[in-house]
Formats: sequence, structure tokens, C-alpha cells
Amino acid sequence: MPGTLAMSENYLEVAIEIAQEAGKILREEFDRPPQISYKGDVDLVTQADRRSEAAIVARLTKYFPEHAIVAEEGTGHESASASEFRWHVDPLDGTTNFAHGYPCFAVSIALAQRDSVIAGVVFNPFYNELFTAARGRGATLNGKPIHVSKVPALSTALLCTGFPVHKRLANPNIHYYWDFTLRSHGVRRDGSAALDLANVAAGRFDGFWEFGLQKWDTAAGSLLVEEAGGKVSDFTGQPYRLGGPMILATNGSVHEEMRKVALEISQRDPAAPLQRP
Ligand code: IPD
Ligand code: CA
Ligand code: CA
Repeated sequence: MPGTLAMSENYLEVAIEIAQEAGKILREEFDRPPQISYKGDVDLVTQADRRSEAAIVARLTKYFPEHAIVAEEGTGHESASASEFRWHVDPLDGTTNFAHGYPCFAVSIALAQRDSVIAGVVFNPFYNELFTAARGRGATLNGKPIHVSKVPALSTALLCTGFPVHKRLANPNIHYYWDFTLRSHGVRRDGSAALDLANVAAGRFDGFWEFGLQKWDTAAGSLLVEEAGGKVSDFTGQPYRLGGPMILATNGSVHEEMRKVALEISQRDPAAPLQRP
């Protein structure tokens, strides 16, 4: 469908412009003492999250008044008409890193048409790394095409994962973390799911998994991985559904092996079910 392809590229151009504007705000705020408040026990929110979201939502609303917007800090809105287009916005992914001065954070903006993400941007303004993807048109980093790695097996893979800020005790991930650490070159825990996925797309990590992520965490990153030639599903092998209870995103080559290990872990340990967040 050439019309749809061209359209997603146009949307992508706008998303890039908006992500760069939001990135400027984050960069500016990063140099100031953080203004932190709490949404839950350890779930932080800063002035940077709020300023970035305000700028993104204002611009998206101006350009696409008929589209719906879902944004993490709650300032999005439903579409005026019954539009099939929905933006998923994480104005600052990696807030805890940001608040501690660790420069691993990003803006993540994606557009879904019904259930399919058609354009996505992840921008790390500290390192000036701009990851983009349009469905059917591939993925890029700073304008150059990117591809997932060719690492063939789990034993030589570098993986990454994350842990939620909510209900940490109920999260089964520590069991998976333990096993995957012993069976690979290692598991990194960088604190920004959007960048984790972007780094799988760029071939820096060979696989990523996490439980309990939200749509705004994964929308752009999952498209990046697919468009870079990787595979995205859940641990049961079902296609990943935005907002689903877990995500597995890999270079494709280590996908089935990771699923097999996950199945073993879940069968061995009742505290580590494959699906529950
Ligand atoms: C968090 C990050 C982190 C992941 C958490 C997310 P936030 O998003 O993506 O890597 O492990 O589950 O909530 O709160 O920094 O936008
Ligand atoms: Ca996030
Ligand atoms: Ca966030």
C-alpha cells in the first residue's frame, strides 16, 4: 500500500521534529537540580517529564487535532472524531536515571493506526542519538539504516531487561534475570525500555525482555526492532500486543532459544509465570 507507506513517513517527519523539541527541554532540565515528586512508592516524576509532555501534546494536538493521544503523565486526550490514529507518548523514558544524573533517557513517540504501530521515534538528547522507523521503510539511527545483530546463540548474546517501579515484589523477573545471566554473555539493566529496544534494533543488544511495560514504553521501540529485522513476541510466542503483560524482542536468531529457557524457568518455578506482570 504505497499510500499508507508515504503517509507513515510524513507522520514520522512530524514525530521527529516534536521529539527533537522535547529533547531540547530534557537537555535543558538535565543541567538543573532535579525537581522530583512521587507518583507511588519509588515512581518518580520530574518537572522535565511534565514540560516535555506539555510540549509534545500541544504540538501533536495542533498538527493532528483529530488524532487520539495517550501520554504517560495523563495529559493526552481521546480523538474528537472516532479516529483510527492514536499517538503513544513517553515524554521521558528513564526518569529515575534522569533524576540521578545518569544520562540514559529518551523521548519516545509512536503513532498507531488501529492496532498497528506505523511510525516511531526514540531520541536520546544527551548522546544526540535519534532512532526512527516507519512501517515497511526500515529503521535508522541518525539517518543511517540499522539492523539487528547476527549473534546466533544465547551463549554469546548480550541481553538487557528492566524491572518495574510498581509492585516490585510481585514481579517474576528476578528469576529470569538470574537464569539469563548464567546462560549469556550478560544481562544489562539500563533503566530505559525505549532505549533498550532501540539498542536491540541497532544490534548493540541481541535480546530484551521485560514484564509489565506500558504502551508508551514499547510502541516506538517495538517498531524499531521489527523494522531493523528483529522479532517481537511474548514468551509464549504470541505476537506482542501493545500493553501486553510481557515483551520479548530479539535479533530473531536467539528468539526461540530465549523462549525455551523462559518456559523452563516458568515450569521450574511457580513464582515465575510466563505472563503475569
Ligand atoms: C521505565 C523505564 C524502565 C522500565 C520501567 C519503566 P519511566 O519508564 O522504561 O526501563 O524498567 O518499567 O516504567 O518511568 O522511566 O518512563
Ligand atoms: Ca517509560
Ligand atoms: Ca516516562
